[in-house]
Amino acid sequence: MQYFLWVLGLGVLGFFIGKFIKHKSLYPFMPFRYDFRKRRGTFLKVLELLEKTKSKLIIETGTSREGLHGAKSNGAATIVFGKWAKQNSAFLHSVDISEKSVAASQQEVDRQKLNSSVKIHLSDSIAFLENFKERVDFLYLDSYDYSDDIDVQTKSQIHHLKEFKAIEDQLHDNSIVLIDDCDLPNGGKGKLVVEYMLKHDWRILINAYQILLVRNKFVA
Ligand SMILES: C[S@@+](CC[C@H](N)C(=O)[O-])C[C@H]1O[C@@H](n2cnc3c(N)ncnc32)[C@H](O)[C@@H]1O
Repeated sequence: MQYFLWVLGLGVLGFFIGKFIKHKSLYPFMPFRYDFRKRRGTFLKVLELLEKTKSKLIIETGTSREGLHGAKSNGAATIVFGKWAKQNSAFLHSVDISEKSVAASQQEVDRQKLNSSVKIHLSDSIAFLENFKERVDFLYLDSYDYSDDIDVQTKSQIHHLKEFKAIEDQLHDNSIVLIDDCDLPNGGKGKLVVEYMLKHDWRILINAYQILLVRNKFVA
């Protein structure tokens, strides 16, 4: 019986240690309990570069439809970069085609008191980007959901390429671009846009679950 309790105790301890090691928080920037898992490394690098380049204008396509609770699944980027924007006198525009996603994201933005630094727009991202005429310091592409379906994959890849082309003229030598959901079958959301960017004077800084790119002339 005693032996059984020891083994059980060790098993439970191992389980919690494993959970702790896998937990990738952005603490102290975000509360410890939120797990950013596969996006933590790229988010940390972006936060560092935003600071170094004194970024002021951020655009995100695809908003945080699960608020901060979606940190592990979706990224919760609206809240992460919205919070950074608030602390650094910058501004985040987040655009989404779904009323439901916009409403949920807006609720979290309200809860986190980020309204003075974040605006969520209800629109197709390409239409929004085509009409956007300010200089963009950081562009985060994360809209059209990727899936196992080849047809959806292709549509998502084409959509993200079109997003980039729609805002390309507003990017400058020190702009930063991050693309989500890339390390997935058939190249993920970034396949076509990364191919295009590499032919147009951009280089990859981090190639992981997300791909982070800057121009060849970039200096931080
Ligand atoms: C993965 S979620 C975005 C997650 C968010 N970036 C985050 O970090 O939590 C994808 C979102 O893209 C939106 N979306 C899909 N197609 C779109 C389009 N054509 N234009 C704008 N948003 C779109 C969906 O409604 C959904 O809310």
